[in-house]
Amino acid sequence: MTIDKVTKEFGGLKAVNDVSCTVKEGSIVGLIGPNGSGKTTLFNVISGVYKPTAGTIMLDGKDISYLSAHKKTMMGMARTFQVVKPFNNISVLENVMVGSYLHNHSHHRSEEFAKGILERLEIDQFADEYPKNLPLAIKKKVEIARALATSPKILLLDEVMGGLNPQETDQVLQTIVKLNEEGMTIVVIEHKMRCIMAIAEKVIVLDSGKMIAMDVPEVVAKNPEVIKAYLGDEYHAEDK
Ligand SMILES: Nc1ncnc2c1ncn2[C@@H]1O[C@H](COP(=O)(O)OP(=O)(O)OP(=O)(O)O)[C@@H](O)[C@H]1O
Ligand SMILES: [Mg+2]
Repeated sequence: MTIDKVTKEFGGLKAVNDVSCTVKEGSIVGLIGPNGSGKTTLFNVISGVYKPTAGTIMLDGKDISYLSAHKKTMMGMARTFQVVKPFNNISVLENVMVGSYLHNHSHHRSEEFAKGILERLEIDQFADEYPKNLPLAIKKKVEIARALATSPKILLLDEVMGGLNPQETDQVLQTIVKLNEEGMTIVVIEHKMRCIMAIAEKVIVLDSGKMIAMDVPEVVAKNPEVIKAYLGDEYHAEDK
């Protein structure tokens, strides 16, 4: 996926300001930056929630800048929402089946596919529960399961490890790595730097809507501008 000079304005505010970057097929890319730096807005533009004010997004050689979220899903793009958005009045399994119908045209097949995803994320014991009754950590996993249900080629994860304990975080990290090994391209927004450092091939850093760095994690972690804007002088990979 190639993002070329993408800007998204809200009134006078450039939430995303002239961002250009490439997400190599089959890679894991980290997207970091301070609160309000435009990370979620960039996801919203990429995934079709918002149209860009300017700029172009190319996927598999096609200009997808102005396609609807639905069309992008059909093309193999899925995303999770920072604030989880399950359907609260249907079960966890049914939530995942909403997505799995896209490529499984019978009830039975979409149910089997959805069950497989729940097992993979180790939340199959919650299949019949309603999301609203579940703790945040499980809701986050349901959010990932819903995204996986559409069999994406490119997956955008918006702080899916927020609110998870270290063990749950490691589980999700392992899942992300596994999905990537199977060929999925993954972009991860995450404040826990330990996670980004562990899995990202490249890291993109936003600050006030602008891209201030894009490089391998080790280089980004030593970039003075990134340290000043986000990581802080006290930064150590282990404790952020
Ligand atoms: N729909 C909207 N209307 C107006 N302003 C918006 C809208 N969505 C986002 N913004 C503004 O755009 C800027 C970037 O917000 P965004 O949510 O993309 O940041 P973020 O990097 O995801 O932050 P966080 O780490 O807190 O999730 C903020 O100033 C925010 O208030
Ligand atoms: Mg955000």
